[in-house]
Amino acid sequence: MIQVINMFSDLVKATRSFRNFDPTYHLSDEVMQRLIELCRYTPSTANTQSIKFAYACSESACEKIFPMIGWAGYLKENKPPYDGNVPTGYILVCFDTDIAPEIEIDAGICAQTIVLGAMDMGIGACMIGSFDKQKAAELFNLPSNIKPRLMIALGRPKETVEIVDIKDGDVKYYRVGKYKHIVPKRTVTELMLPKLK
Ligand SMILES: Cc1cc2nc3c(=O)[nH]c(=O)nc-3n(C[C@H](O)[C@H](O)[C@H](O)COP(=O)(O)O)c2cc1C
Repeated sequence: MIQVINMFSDLVKATRSFRNFDPTYHLSDEVMQRLIELCRYTPSTANTQSIKFAYACSESACEKIFPMIGWAGYLKENKPPYDGNVPTGYILVCFDTDIAPEIEIDAGICAQTIVLGAMDMGIGACMIGSFDKQKAAELFNLPSNIKPRLMIALGRPKETVEIVDIKDGDVKYYRVGKYKHIVPKRTVTELMLPKLK
């Protein structure tokens, strides 16, 4: 059972990319809409607010979305989710090109806001850039000005994700057994550029 997290730094650390979920956990329309509503409060380039969202949380819709997704590119064989532990909801993050050109950074701000907001409610997520955007546009019946950019898979996590310090610059995540996922991260020292004096 995931705990509700109060400290922002704890929330950021707990907000990992999850790829195994409890398939019986129901995500309601209310929860999905609350996550999307968070994006109303995010900053956007020139306040254009050009990012739009579609969502799905029914079993039949999730079954259609699942095969469009490329999971865990670094795991060459035996990719998650395992044993039918699939996501039970998806939010499709899209550009509205009638409002602005495709502003990547605004999509990223919205996506991270959604996954943090989800974790705050005990819901895990994985941002998915590798998915069939044309099929997704068709499935969601999107007009031509709405361009899918990211799929966010959501559900109650059914695995642990652990952060380790990176070794020899190798960024590839790996699994220990089926349900323990290890993610190498650069140390803060490596992230820091020289301070201006
Ligand atoms: C823009 C973006 C696209 C991503 N696309 C995928 C994807 O297609 N498939 C996948 O399994 N994970 C995807 N991820 C998740 C990354 O693999 C993950 O963030 C990375 O391994 C670090 O793990 P962490 O999120 O737990 O820190 C994506 C993440 C981001 C930010």
